[in-house]
Amino acid sequence: MHVTRWPAFVVLGLALSMGATAGAAQTMPSDARIKARVDALLARMSLEEKVGQLNQAGAISFGQDGPKIEDVVRRGGAGSVLWLNDTKRFNELQKIAVEESPSRIPLLFGLDVIHGYRTIFPVPLAMASSWDPAVPERAQTVAAREARAAGIHWTFGPMVDIARDARWGRIVEGAGEDPYLGSAMAAAQVRGFQGQTFGAADRLVACAKHFAGYGFADGGRDYDPVDLSEAQLRNVVLPPFHAAVKAGVGTFMGAYMDLNNVPASGNAFLLRQVLKGEWGFRGFVVSDAMAIGNLIIQGFARDGRDAASRALRAGMDMDMASGTYPRNLAALVKDGTVKTAEIDDAVRRVLTVKVRMGLFEHPYTDESLLTKVVSSPEHQQEARWAAQRSMVLLRNEGKTLPLSKNIKHLAVIGPVADSRDATDGSWMVFGHTSNAVTVLEGIKAKVPDAKIEYAPGPEIRREIPSFFDALTGVPQTTPQTPGEAEAAFQLAVATARGADVVVMVLGETASMAGEAASRASLDLPGRQQALLEAVVGLGKPVVLVLLNGRPLALSWAAEHVPAILEAWEPGSEGGHAVADILFGDVNPGGKLPATFPRKTGQTPLYYARTLTHSPEGSRMYNPRYWDGQNSPLYPFGHGLSYTTFSIDNLKVSAPKVKVGEQLTVTADVANTGTVAGDEVVQLYIHQKAGSDSRPIRELKGFERVTLEPGEKRTVSFKLGPDELRYWSTSAKAWIQDAEAFDVWVGADSTATLGAGFTVVR
Ligand code: NOJ
Repeated sequence: MHVTRWPAFVVLGLALSMGATAGAAQTMPSDARIKARVDALLARMSLEEKVGQLNQAGAISFGQDGPKIEDVVRRGGAGSVLWLNDTKRFNELQKIAVEESPSRIPLLFGLDVIHGYRTIFPVPLAMASSWDPAVPERAQTVAAREARAAGIHWTFGPMVDIARDARWGRIVEGAGEDPYLGSAMAAAQVRGFQGQTFGAADRLVACAKHFAGYGFADGGRDYDPVDLSEAQLRNVVLPPFHAAVKAGVGTFMGAYMDLNNVPASGNAFLLRQVLKGEWGFRGFVVSDAMAIGNLIIQGFARDGRDAASRALRAGMDMDMASGTYPRNLAALVKDGTVKTAEIDDAVRRVLTVKVRMGLFEHPYTDESLLTKVVSSPEHQQEARWAAQRSMVLLRNEGKTLPLSKNIKHLAVIGPVADSRDATDGSWMVFGHTSNAVTVLEGIKAKVPDAKIEYAPGPEIRREIPSFFDALTGVPQTTPQTPGEAEAAFQLAVATARGADVVVMVLGETASMAGEAASRASLDLPGRQQALLEAVVGLGKPVVLVLLNGRPLALSWAAEHVPAILEAWEPGSEGGHAVADILFGDVNPGGKLPATFPRKTGQTPLYYARTLTHSPEGSRMYNPRYWDGQNSPLYPFGHGLSYTTFSIDNLKVSAPKVKVGEQLTVTADVANTGTVAGDEVVQLYIHQKAGSDSRPIRELKGFERVTLEPGEKRTVSFKLGPDELRYWSTSAKAWIQDAEAFDVWVGADSTATLGAGFTVVR
């Protein structure tokens, strides 16, 4: 159970909107009335118009010739438009849809609003590091408010793909490696985007993506095939999607890659059997961009007709920008390949979302609203709070941190120290211009009287330029020459030499993580490692602040740099939040949502693997690598604080519990240090034997608590059938075994405070 603490302005806003909701509830159409309205619409729509509703048209064509978007909308040829971010244009297109298209059905405007619209929040991987669902919930509330004020109705988020391979660039968009944490973050984001009332005026329709398995691409290479057993799929990949459905998510998006040799966009098992069948999902599913057309390229569909009919029949309701549905579906219905009922089911889903969200009543957006909404200082405060809660203190030897505000001379070194791009991070909203506060700016604002010298060192850049930069025409800068890079290196070392303390800000630029941004190496890019070693070699106190979108291999730093703060890509207020932590105004309390390897070659690396015949710590342990250790550098759940905590007095309510029943696990957590701080108390279980072998540990509960020095609290977790069941390969079903379990409670996934219980029939 997570208790959300809302600041006053949010409570006020919530109360107002709930007041509105209560009023609206009386007039809210019932399911029967929605259905009647959708039926009436369907009855008067031509086949071409129905197909139009299943077409999401791209407002930019990426250089391809096609009909003008206005003309497509005018003839009822589009149900939705994406890649447009302009309120005036939204209204113009909407006017055409509402006044000129045959059935006057309003358009749904969709866009990727992933971690903020104008006020940028930490990237989702960072927000997951808060281990506090209130963080993404509040962040997405603000993101929804701003984006909706711009005229956007529908966001392509949350991205809930579990990722266990840090080479995969899109790990930055999700909640990391764990299905339990991932489910909590998925549900929180849906609540944040959609609010309590579907279609509220200041919320968005959410979209859980990418269904499913995308995070398990071979070798971490984006888009590459995925091979997953049904057990992995159901126990690891699908839970966050199911959590999104339970939280009421309005839409789903498919995924690009092959899943067990069937592309996800044409995968009837995923879409028909699991999502719409077993889970009873009543919203609609949109493909990923161009994905239905890609079924041909992927060697699955013969041609456009084949792609359209197989995708639709598999349960893919809307075609994102590939044009395959509008080009083929009507003919396929006319020749009997696709049934009208199949088209109607998909159209009904799209129209139901539009009716439910009140789009017919409120198709337009007030063009003066956005400026008022985004100027709210509370949004900035929310972003700063979210960033503070998302950062993870990886190391702090000899209490290097926090730094004293009386510091005289500080050097700030590194290529991302003053980079707005790296601070805002991956997945920027279409057309967004960053105004992020950089780490350098945050530090200057925090200690205005200190002498602060800055040197970026050699630039960092992708070895292969971003596909998206090329596609959208982002100008490429000329790379530094080796001579310029060397001069920048020497200047950075000289700058550090003169200072009392050095803050190194290293990591990745925004385009180094995200879509089509996988890496073959998890080392610090460019010459950053050499620069770090040279600066540490000066013998000064060094603090390393990391801005990056994935776990990195930091073995050298973990041994030689006394303090390391993982700040991720912290968003608009990121620089202030880093300074708040560096100078002790905020005590860090985030924890890693993904394992940090020692070396790239260990990936994929995650804590919840199954046991082997030669487990770590056993007499017969047989080391896996001869050129490195097996264990992670920083385990899942790791994160330090400026205070210390004890966790003890673990109690299980009963030694035995019947299948289907619940028991309670409690433990005491106390702040044993001298400053207030947060601990995330984590509960892990292990089923010792069973129909299948089960992971060595699985997270099944967590709570982030704030404690004053000397304060103690008892935290309590429930373990019942939801936590103890699993999808069994042997039984080919969800089962709960009557078996013995270990349970641990502690501060990370290596917790040693343990007990046991047995499930009996
Ligand atoms: C492709 C990405 O995979 C997806 O996440 C995104 O929502 C769409 N493009 C739309 O921009």
